[in-house]
Amino acid sequence: MMQRYSFCLMNAFLDYICALLPIKDLWGVCMSHLFESIDFEENPLYEAIISDLSKQQYSVVDHFFAPEEVHVLREALLNTNKEDQFKKAAIGNKLNVAIIKPIRGDLIFWMDEAKANTAEKLFFDKINDLIAYLNKTCFLGILQKEFHYAIYPKGTFYKKHIDTFQNDDRRKLSFVCYLNEAGWLPEYGGELVLYLEEGDKVIYPLPGRVVIFESQSIPHEVKPVHAERLSITGWLKTR
Ligand code: OGA
Ligand code: MN
Repeated sequence: MMQRYSFCLMNAFLDYICALLPIKDLWGVCMSHLFESIDFEENPLYEAIISDLSKQQYSVVDHFFAPEEVHVLREALLNTNKEDQFKKAAIGNKLNVAIIKPIRGDLIFWMDEAKANTAEKLFFDKINDLIAYLNKTCFLGILQKEFHYAIYPKGTFYKKHIDTFQNDDRRKLSFVCYLNEAGWLPEYGGELVLYLEEGDKVIYPLPGRVVIFESQSIPHEVKPVHAERLSITGWLKTR
């Protein structure tokens, strides 16, 4: 009896609430709060990158950077080089460093996001946006990044290697972005070759093109260049 009584009371209460606020609206209010808190919009370009990475462990994206963006980034690289700030790239990391010319001949300059100029801010904005998307959708746990400019003078190369160190496996994804002038020809060399189980993948360093690949599993090489080759290379890392 008591139960029935409270049941009736509850029904009357619910009728009252529903009369004040139709249940449909209540549902709508709840859902809008849910979507507000998730705040996610699918990005077709990033989805294509994720799909490539999961299927083949690498992704090649032409026009990741528009021609004007490539232009300002190339100018930023060349200005830094004018100040004579590039150093011969080494093998290994801080704990384990060696400059071995027969392995790589490029000159590099590590970029500092805190001191970024306008072009570099644009670069880091795009990178940070990609990282946020990867972390949200793939739970990759990318918490650090490092990027350097690279100049391969005529005659230089980078022999077959993997991008992780014996004493540090935090690099998860390698990212290369080419800043050459429009009209890069195959005879200029400098191809990036990815050595995959299904065969070799040859990629020309065309301006605006970005290559992303798994740092720990893909051996790769930069073939000898016959014209100066400009790029930004970097790594997305776990902590
Ligand atoms: C590297 C590298 C590839 C490229 O710097 O480790 O493999 O195409 N670069 O410049
Ligand atoms: Mn490499």
